[in-house]
Amino acid sequence: MSRKKTKRILVTGAVGQIGSELTMELRKRYGNDKVLATGRKTKPSKMLLNSGPFEFIDITIRDTVEKVVNEYDIDTIYNMAAILSAVGEEKPLLCWNVNINGLYNILEIAREREMNRVFVPSSIAVFGPETPRDNTPQDTVLKPTTMYGVTKVCGELLGDYYFKRFNLDVRGIRYPGIISNETLPGGGTTDYAVEIFYEAIKNRKYTCFVKKETMLPMMYMPDCIKGTIDLMETDLLKLKHHCNFNLTSMSFSAGELESEIKKHIPNFNCEYKPDFRQDIADSWPRSIDDSAAREEWGWKPEYDLPTMTEDMLDNLGKRYE
Ligand code: SER
Repeated sequence: MSRKKTKRILVTGAVGQIGSELTMELRKRYGNDKVLATGRKTKPSKMLLNSGPFEFIDITIRDTVEKVVNEYDIDTIYNMAAILSAVGEEKPLLCWNVNINGLYNILEIAREREMNRVFVPSSIAVFGPETPRDNTPQDTVLKPTTMYGVTKVCGELLGDYYFKRFNLDVRGIRYPGIISNETLPGGGTTDYAVEIFYEAIKNRKYTCFVKKETMLPMMYMPDCIKGTIDLMETDLLKLKHHCNFNLTSMSFSAGELESEIKKHIPNFNCEYKPDFRQDIADSWPRSIDDSAAREEWGWKPEYDLPTMTEDMLDNLGKRYE
Protein backbone atom coordinates (compact mmCIF):
# COMPACT_ATOMS: atom_id res chain seq x y z
CA MET A 1 0.00 0.00 0.00
CA SER A 2 2.31 2.75 -1.16
CA ARG A 3 1.31 6.36 -0.84
CA LYS A 4 0.74 7.82 -4.28
CA LYS A 5 2.26 11.14 -5.23
CA THR A 6 -0.78 13.04 -6.38
CA LYS A 7 -3.22 13.21 -3.57
CA ARG A 8 -6.80 13.94 -4.62
CA ILE A 9 -9.25 13.80 -1.79
CA LEU A 10 -13.02 13.40 -1.88
CA VAL A 11 -15.04 14.60 1.10
CA THR A 12 -18.64 13.39 1.18
CA GLY A 13 -21.03 15.22 3.49
CA ALA A 14 -18.90 18.33 3.00
CA VAL A 15 -21.80 20.66 3.73
CA GLY A 16 -22.32 19.07 7.15
CA GLN A 17 -21.06 20.08 10.57
CA ILE A 18 -17.72 18.25 10.46
CA GLY A 19 -17.35 17.96 6.67
CA SER A 20 -17.47 21.71 6.08
CA GLU A 21 -14.59 22.51 8.45
CA LEU A 22 -12.65 19.36 7.55
CA THR A 23 -12.75 20.31 3.85
CA MET A 24 -11.33 23.77 4.55
CA GLU A 25 -8.48 22.35 6.66
CA LEU A 26 -7.66 19.69 4.07
CA ARG A 27 -7.60 22.38 1.36
CA LYS A 28 -5.27 24.47 3.50
CA ARG A 29 -2.89 21.55 3.98
CA TYR A 30 -2.94 19.86 0.57
CA GLY A 31 -4.08 22.60 -1.83
CA ASN A 32 -7.53 23.89 -2.78
CA ASP A 33 -7.85 21.99 -6.05
CA LYS A 34 -6.76 18.73 -4.43
CA VAL A 35 -9.88 18.46 -2.28
CA LEU A 36 -13.27 17.83 -3.86
CA ALA A 37 -16.17 18.79 -1.59
CA THR A 38 -19.48 17.05 -2.24
CA GLY A 39 -22.98 17.27 -0.83
CA ARG A 40 -26.37 15.78 -1.56
CA LYS A 41 -28.90 18.58 -1.45
CA THR A 42 -27.95 21.41 0.88
CA LYS A 43 -26.51 24.49 -0.76
CA PRO A 44 -22.81 24.83 0.09
CA SER A 45 -21.46 27.96 1.76
CA LYS A 46 -19.67 30.60 -0.31
CA MET A 47 -16.46 29.69 1.51
CA LEU A 48 -16.73 26.08 0.37
CA LEU A 49 -17.73 27.01 -3.19
CA ASN A 50 -15.13 29.71 -3.72
CA SER A 51 -12.17 27.84 -2.29
CA GLY A 52 -12.21 24.70 -4.45
CA PRO A 53 -14.23 22.20 -6.47
CA PHE A 54 -17.76 21.22 -5.36
CA GLU A 55 -20.16 18.62 -6.82
CA PHE A 56 -23.54 17.24 -5.84
CA ILE A 57 -23.55 13.46 -5.38
CA ASP A 58 -25.63 10.90 -3.48
CA ILE A 59 -23.57 8.12 -1.91
CA THR A 60 -26.58 5.77 -2.07
CA ILE A 61 -26.49 6.10 -5.88
CA ARG A 62 -23.20 4.51 -6.87
CA ASP A 63 -22.94 6.09 -10.35
CA THR A 64 -22.95 9.60 -8.90
CA VAL A 65 -19.92 8.76 -6.74
CA GLU A 66 -18.06 6.90 -9.50
CA LYS A 67 -18.48 9.80 -11.86
CA VAL A 68 -16.69 12.30 -9.61
CA VAL A 69 -14.10 9.75 -8.48
CA ASN A 70 -13.11 9.21 -12.13
CA GLU A 71 -13.35 12.84 -13.13
CA TYR A 72 -11.21 14.12 -10.24
CA ASP A 73 -8.85 11.14 -9.99
CA ILE A 74 -9.64 10.52 -6.32
CA ASP A 75 -7.39 8.31 -4.22
CA THR A 76 -8.52 9.18 -0.68
CA ILE A 77 -12.07 9.47 0.65
CA TYR A 78 -13.38 11.02 3.85
CA ASN A 79 -16.92 9.63 3.97
CA MET A 80 -18.57 12.20 6.23
CA ALA A 81 -22.09 11.80 4.76
CA ALA A 82 -24.39 10.28 7.40
CA ILE A 83 -27.78 10.39 9.06
CA LEU A 84 -27.37 11.11 12.79
CA SER A 85 -29.03 9.53 15.80
CA ALA A 86 -32.22 11.56 16.28
CA VAL A 87 -33.19 11.64 12.59
CA GLY A 88 -32.18 7.98 12.45
CA GLU A 89 -34.90 7.13 14.98
CA GLU A 90 -37.47 9.05 12.94
CA LYS A 91 -36.31 7.59 9.62
CA PRO A 92 -34.58 4.25 10.31
CA LEU A 93 -34.70 3.07 6.70
CA LEU A 94 -33.08 6.25 5.42
CA CYS A 95 -30.45 5.92 8.16
CA TRP A 96 -29.62 2.36 7.08
CA ASN A 97 -29.57 3.31 3.43
CA VAL A 98 -27.18 6.24 3.77
CA ASN A 99 -24.97 4.89 6.58
CA ILE A 100 -24.67 1.31 5.31
CA ASN A 101 -25.59 1.07 1.62
CA GLY A 102 -23.90 4.40 0.98
CA LEU A 103 -20.79 3.29 2.86
CA TYR A 104 -20.77 0.01 0.95
CA ASN A 105 -20.67 1.94 -2.34
CA ILE A 106 -17.77 4.03 -1.05
CA LEU A 107 -15.79 0.98 0.08
CA GLU A 108 -16.40 -0.92 -3.14
CA ILE A 109 -15.38 2.02 -5.30
CA ALA A 110 -12.23 2.47 -3.18
CA ARG A 111 -11.42 -1.26 -3.33
CA GLU A 112 -11.85 -1.51 -7.10
CA ARG A 113 -9.52 1.43 -7.66
CA GLU A 114 -7.02 0.34 -4.98
CA MET A 115 -7.30 3.70 -3.32
CA ASN A 116 -4.76 4.98 -0.85
CA ARG A 117 -7.02 5.43 2.18
CA VAL A 118 -10.64 5.81 3.35
CA PHE A 119 -11.92 7.54 6.50
CA VAL A 120 -15.16 6.19 7.95
CA PRO A 121 -16.47 8.05 11.00
CA SER A 122 -17.98 6.09 13.85
CA SER A 123 -19.56 7.35 17.07
CA ILE A 124 -20.09 6.85 20.80
CA ALA A 125 -23.49 5.60 19.56
CA VAL A 126 -21.91 2.15 18.98
CA PHE A 127 -22.25 1.61 22.74
CA GLY A 128 -25.47 0.69 24.50
CA PRO A 129 -27.03 0.24 27.93
CA GLU A 130 -24.99 -2.92 28.62
CA THR A 131 -21.66 -1.14 28.06
CA PRO A 132 -19.84 0.31 31.11
CA ARG A 133 -20.80 4.00 31.01
CA ASP A 134 -17.82 5.51 32.79
CA ASN A 135 -14.39 5.50 31.19
CA THR A 136 -15.84 3.20 28.53
CA PRO A 137 -13.08 0.85 27.34
CA GLN A 138 -11.81 0.69 23.77
CA ASP A 139 -12.79 -2.91 23.30
CA THR A 140 -16.12 -3.66 25.01
CA VAL A 141 -19.78 -4.60 24.51
CA LEU A 142 -21.27 -3.09 21.33
CA LYS A 143 -25.04 -3.51 21.60
CA PRO A 144 -26.58 -0.15 20.65
CA THR A 145 -30.32 0.48 20.87
CA THR A 146 -30.60 3.06 18.07
CA MET A 147 -30.60 2.51 14.31
CA TYR A 148 -27.77 5.03 14.08
CA GLY A 149 -25.73 2.94 16.54
CA VAL A 150 -26.50 -0.27 14.65
CA THR A 151 -25.24 1.27 11.41
CA LYS A 152 -22.11 2.58 13.12
CA VAL A 153 -21.19 -0.83 14.60
CA CYS A 154 -21.79 -2.35 11.19
CA GLY A 155 -19.70 0.38 9.54
CA GLU A 156 -16.76 -0.31 11.87
CA LEU A 157 -16.95 -4.03 11.16
CA LEU A 158 -17.24 -3.46 7.40
CA GLY A 159 -14.24 -1.13 7.40
CA ASP A 160 -12.12 -3.61 9.38
CA TYR A 161 -13.29 -6.38 7.05
CA TYR A 162 -12.18 -4.44 3.97
CA PHE A 163 -8.79 -3.91 5.56
CA LYS A 164 -8.26 -7.57 6.45
CA ARG A 165 -9.85 -9.07 3.38
CA PHE A 166 -8.87 -6.60 0.64
CA ASN A 167 -5.95 -4.67 2.13
CA LEU A 168 -7.89 -1.40 1.77
CA ASP A 169 -6.58 1.07 4.36
CA VAL A 170 -9.80 2.10 6.12
CA ARG A 171 -9.63 4.13 9.36
CA GLY A 172 -12.18 5.57 11.72
CA ILE A 173 -12.88 7.37 14.97
CA ARG A 174 -15.76 7.02 17.40
CA TYR A 175 -16.61 10.69 17.61
CA PRO A 176 -18.14 12.01 20.82
CA GLY A 177 -20.53 15.00 20.60
CA ILE A 178 -18.83 17.65 18.46
CA ILE A 179 -19.17 21.31 19.39
CA SER A 180 -18.57 23.95 16.73
CA ASN A 181 -19.62 27.37 15.48
CA GLU A 182 -19.35 27.27 11.67
CA THR A 183 -22.04 24.80 10.59
CA LEU A 184 -24.86 23.57 12.83
CA PRO A 185 -25.14 19.82 13.38
CA GLY A 186 -28.21 18.21 11.87
CA GLY A 187 -30.35 15.76 13.78
CA GLY A 188 -28.08 14.40 16.48
CA THR A 189 -28.61 13.79 20.19
CA THR A 190 -25.62 15.89 21.25
CA ASP A 191 -26.93 18.94 19.31
CA TYR A 192 -28.03 20.63 22.57
CA ALA A 193 -24.37 21.25 23.45
CA VAL A 194 -24.11 23.39 20.29
CA GLU A 195 -27.58 25.00 20.28
CA ILE A 196 -27.13 26.21 23.86
CA PHE A 197 -24.29 28.53 22.75
CA TYR A 198 -26.24 30.05 19.86
CA GLU A 199 -29.29 30.63 22.07
CA ALA A 200 -27.21 32.01 24.94
CA ILE A 201 -25.69 34.59 22.59
CA LYS A 202 -28.83 35.44 20.64
CA ASN A 203 -31.64 35.19 23.22
CA ARG A 204 -30.04 34.67 26.64
CA LYS A 205 -32.24 31.60 27.13
CA TYR A 206 -32.40 27.97 26.03
CA THR A 207 -34.70 25.00 26.52
CA CYS A 208 -32.52 21.92 26.68
CA PHE A 209 -33.92 18.59 25.42
CA VAL A 210 -31.97 16.43 27.88
CA LYS A 211 -31.94 16.55 31.69
CA LYS A 212 -29.61 18.82 33.59
CA GLU A 213 -27.59 15.88 34.95
CA THR A 214 -27.12 14.20 31.55
CA MET A 215 -23.40 13.77 30.98
CA LEU A 216 -21.83 12.85 27.63
CA PRO A 217 -18.32 12.85 26.14
CA MET A 218 -17.68 15.90 23.94
CA MET A 219 -15.01 17.52 21.80
CA TYR A 220 -14.40 20.93 20.27
CA MET A 221 -14.12 21.11 16.47
CA PRO A 222 -10.44 22.10 16.24
CA ASP A 223 -9.57 18.92 18.18
CA CYS A 224 -11.95 16.88 16.04
CA ILE A 225 -10.32 18.05 12.81
CA LYS A 226 -6.81 17.62 14.18
CA GLY A 227 -7.59 14.10 15.43
CA THR A 228 -9.18 13.08 12.13
CA ILE A 229 -6.29 14.22 9.95
CA ASP A 230 -3.65 12.99 12.43
CA LEU A 231 -5.14 9.49 12.34
CA MET A 232 -5.24 9.56 8.53
CA GLU A 233 -1.59 10.62 8.37
CA THR A 234 -0.30 8.01 10.83
CA ASP A 235 1.96 5.28 9.55
CA LEU A 236 -0.19 2.20 9.03
CA LEU A 237 2.32 0.00 10.82
CA LYS A 238 1.64 1.84 14.09
CA LEU A 239 -2.05 0.95 14.11
CA LYS A 240 -3.44 -2.02 15.99
CA HIS A 241 -7.01 -0.76 15.70
CA HIS A 242 -8.39 0.64 12.47
CA CYS A 243 -12.02 1.76 12.24
CA ASN A 244 -13.02 2.09 15.87
CA PHE A 245 -10.81 4.44 17.87
CA ASN A 246 -12.40 5.81 21.06
CA LEU A 247 -11.71 9.55 21.15
CA THR A 248 -12.62 12.24 23.64
CA SER A 249 -11.39 15.43 25.20
CA MET A 250 -13.95 16.31 27.88
CA SER A 251 -17.13 15.13 29.59
CA PHE A 252 -19.66 17.42 31.20
CA SER A 253 -23.32 17.43 32.15
CA ALA A 254 -25.79 19.83 30.54
CA GLY A 255 -25.95 21.63 33.92
CA GLU A 256 -22.17 22.04 34.05
CA LEU A 257 -22.24 23.51 30.56
CA GLU A 258 -24.96 25.94 31.63
CA SER A 259 -22.84 27.02 34.63
CA GLU A 260 -19.76 27.51 32.45
CA ILE A 261 -21.72 29.72 30.02
CA LYS A 262 -23.15 31.69 32.98
CA LYS A 263 -19.62 32.66 34.00
CA HIS A 264 -19.58 34.74 30.79
CA ILE A 265 -23.29 35.55 30.46
CA PRO A 266 -24.68 35.81 34.03
CA ASN A 267 -28.28 36.50 32.89
CA PHE A 268 -28.41 33.34 30.75
CA ASN A 269 -31.40 31.19 31.64
CA CYS A 270 -31.60 27.47 30.82
CA GLU A 271 -34.65 25.23 31.22
CA TYR A 272 -34.77 21.46 30.84
CA LYS A 273 -37.53 19.66 28.93
CA PRO A 274 -36.30 16.17 28.00
CA ASP A 275 -37.79 14.57 24.87
CA PHE A 276 -37.18 11.24 23.06
CA ARG A 277 -33.50 12.09 22.77
CA GLN A 278 -33.11 11.60 26.54
CA ASP A 279 -33.38 7.82 26.09
CA ILE A 280 -30.71 7.90 23.42
CA ALA A 281 -28.39 9.95 25.63
CA ASP A 282 -29.02 7.59 28.57
CA SER A 283 -27.86 4.63 26.47
CA TRP A 284 -24.47 6.24 25.68
CA PRO A 285 -21.27 6.52 27.78
CA ARG A 286 -20.68 9.36 30.23
CA SER A 287 -16.94 9.29 29.65
CA ILE A 288 -14.56 7.48 27.33
CA ASP A 289 -11.16 5.80 27.64
CA ASP A 290 -9.21 6.86 24.56
CA SER A 291 -5.80 5.47 25.57
CA ALA A 292 -5.54 3.32 22.41
CA ALA A 293 -5.66 6.48 20.26
CA ARG A 294 -3.10 8.14 22.54
CA GLU A 295 -0.74 5.15 22.37
CA GLU A 296 -1.12 4.16 18.72
CA TRP A 297 -1.11 7.57 17.04
CA GLY A 298 -0.33 10.14 19.70
CA TRP A 299 -3.81 11.65 20.22
CA LYS A 300 -3.76 14.63 22.59
CA PRO A 301 -6.64 17.13 22.71
CA GLU A 302 -6.14 20.84 23.37
CA TYR A 303 -9.51 22.11 24.55
CA ASP A 304 -11.35 21.52 27.83
CA LEU A 305 -14.73 22.87 28.97
CA PRO A 306 -13.53 26.37 30.02
CA THR A 307 -11.31 27.00 26.97
CA MET A 308 -13.90 25.62 24.53
CA THR A 309 -16.68 27.72 26.10
CA GLU A 310 -14.63 30.88 25.93
CA ASP A 311 -13.73 30.32 22.29
CA MET A 312 -17.32 29.42 21.29
CA LEU A 313 -18.77 32.54 22.93
CA ASP A 314 -16.05 34.70 21.50
CA ASN A 315 -16.68 33.47 17.94
CA LEU A 316 -20.46 33.56 18.12
CA GLY A 317 -20.41 36.89 19.95
CA LYS A 318 -18.49 38.51 17.09
CA ARG A 319 -21.03 37.16 14.61
CA TYR A 320 -24.33 37.83 16.39
CA GLU A 321 -23.92 40.56 18.99
N1 SER B 1 -23.34 13.58 17.60
C1 SER B 1 -23.92 12.33 17.19
C2 SER B 1 -25.36 12.29 17.48
O1 SER B 1 -25.76 12.88 18.46
C3 SER B 1 -23.25 11.19 17.87
O2 SER B 1 -22.31 10.65 17.05
O3 SER B 1 -26.10 11.65 16.80
